[in-house]
Amino acid sequence: MLCGWVWTCGKGKAMFHQSSRQCERLLRRLYSSSGSPLRVCVVGSGPAGFYTAHQLLKKHPNTCVDILERLPVPFGLVRFGVAPDHPEVKNCINQFTSLAQSGKCRFLGNVRVGEDVSVTTLRSLYHAVVLAYGAEGDRELGIPGEDLPGVHSARAFVGWYNGLPSCRHLSPDLSGDTAIVCGHGNVALDVARMLLTPVDILKSTDICEHALDALAESKIRRVHLIGRRGPLQVAFTIKELREMTRLPNCQTTFDPRDFDPIRDQIQDLPRPRKRLTELMMKTAEEGSVAHGDRGVSHSDDGREWRLHFLKSPVEVMDSGCGIVGGVRVELNILEGNGDSTRAVATGNYEEVECNLVLRSIGYKALPLEGGVPVDPSTGYIPNHRGRVDNGLYCSGWVKTGPVGVIVTTMENAFETAATILEDYENGMLQVTEDTDLTGKLRDVCPPVLFSDWERIDERERRDGDRVGKPREKITSLQTMLDIAHT
Ligand SMILES: Cc1cc2nc3c(=O)[nH]c(=O)nc-3n(C[C@H](O)[C@H](O)[C@H](O)COP(=O)(O)OP(=O)(O)OC[C@H]3O[C@@H](n4cnc5c(N)ncnc54)[C@H](O)[C@@H]3O)c2cc1C
Ligand SMILES: NC(=O)c1ccc[n+]([C@@H]2O[C@H](COP(=O)([O-])OP(=O)(O)OC[C@H]3O[C@@H](n4cnc5c(N)ncnc54)[C@H](OP(=O)(O)O)[C@@H]3O)[C@@H](O)[C@H]2O)c1
Repeated sequence: MLCGWVWTCGKGKAMFHQSSRQCERLLRRLYSSSGSPLRVCVVGSGPAGFYTAHQLLKKHPNTCVDILERLPVPFGLVRFGVAPDHPEVKNCINQFTSLAQSGKCRFLGNVRVGEDVSVTTLRSLYHAVVLAYGAEGDRELGIPGEDLPGVHSARAFVGWYNGLPSCRHLSPDLSGDTAIVCGHGNVALDVARMLLTPVDILKSTDICEHALDALAESKIRRVHLIGRRGPLQVAFTIKELREMTRLPNCQTTFDPRDFDPIRDQIQDLPRPRKRLTELMMKTAEEGSVAHGDRGVSHSDDGREWRLHFLKSPVEVMDSGCGIVGGVRVELNILEGNGDSTRAVATGNYEEVECNLVLRSIGYKALPLEGGVPVDPSTGYIPNHRGRVDNGLYCSGWVKTGPVGVIVTTMENAFETAATILEDYENGMLQVTEDTDLTGKLRDVCPPVLFSDWERIDERERRDGDRVGKPREKITSLQTMLDIAHT
């Protein structure tokens, strides 16, 4: 379609009759090649933030990216989520560091978007604002007793052992012998593994000192993982399961009878699910053969873990002293097939005693103050390929909900970057105020630059070195800021 307007190009005095889209694209190319960069602000410095920045700079080198981070330290869940005994997963930090040192991507820590600066202000200063602030809330069970002392979200427990400043004072009570973890995902396996791994192994990881001390004194010997559906619906993956089954001095106690109803379905499963199920079944069988007692067995100091299927927590029970004493579960049957298989309550109940409950049923994206609403039914910001609105985008867990590993987050960040560049090429993105953000921030929240973070990093590595750890994380915001701003 001809747009009807004639554009005289200053360079060649050429006359173009183009579709309006093509004209805009040409104008945009001319504008960008003239030296004015595409300006992008990314909110959040986790994998989604860094991978979005990386892809934008790769595909459109004339881009300047500012990554704003609430905390004085970067990398989101790579620092505060990934388990301390999985250091190889954190290698992506090297790539993020190169990017932040490239001069094209500025890290501005200690900036809480929604409080220190509004999304509206950011939208006036940048062609594109990308919300990549993750999913920092907890899903709740919504059952009586859930707020009793001794019940914590897995998110808080993970934050505690990983040094998240807001969780450093959690002090979970580890003086009893039994913990219940609700949920059958990888986070559930992470927290169970932290409770059962010998501290001699943990002490050479970057686990925080306060957590290591508490785990060294821990009396927890038994961890029950309770799932509402069956073995074919577990959300954890084979590598993490295998790790659990190989925990030193710890028995895996599966009941082979749990697998009887699914034996004839194994052959038709997709390969990853088939291998995972076969490993669970093999573990159940070998446990019962080795101990002659259908899966019930014990290690030297009684450490064991067990999977419970088809059980929905319906009440956290009081021990009688105002603290958790157990969990009452309702037994389920399954209805439906494939992804739509759901748990249906039977009206029969069981009680499992415990001294600690960790609720690991998923994270939840929260709306930013004065920002964009999160859809409560899906748990993420409504978007199309990362586009929320003209000039506003989202990436990572706030775009998809709290699912997926770092590689999946990377892929979804790349999709958002492609959408931004498409919109830019189509002339849809404008800057209305030509000011540098740091001028506006200086008096509100002096930003922590990447070079400031490098001072914190250096201090953490030095402190870790003294005790044979890769780093000893600083957990106080004030100490981080003091080091950053000296
Ligand atoms: C416990 C746990 C363990 C995991 N282990 C693994 C693993 O071993 N391997 C693997 O591949 N994946 C793992 N994952 C998944 C992986 O961590 C996620 O896929 C990934 O971190 C999601 O990236 P994100 O950038 O969307 O969110 P996040 O990593 O959460 O980053 C969001 C960032 O936004 C910042 N932010 C929040 N609010 C604001 C605000 N208002 N202003 C400015 N900044 C803000 C946060 O501080 C944070 O730095 C794990 C996840 C969890 C929860
Ligand atoms: N090592 C790793 O690679 C690693 C480590 C940690 C996390 N991660 C990734 O991070 C993401 C988040 O992990 P996650 O474990 O938090 O979430 P998840 O994988 O979504 O697992 C959540 C679990 O909670 C259960 N659940 C949800 N609502 C429930 C309710 N109301 N009552 C009872 N059970 C309920 C789910 O059961 P249903 O299936 O029945 O809903 C599921 O078993 C995942 O993609 C995970 O793979 C990866």
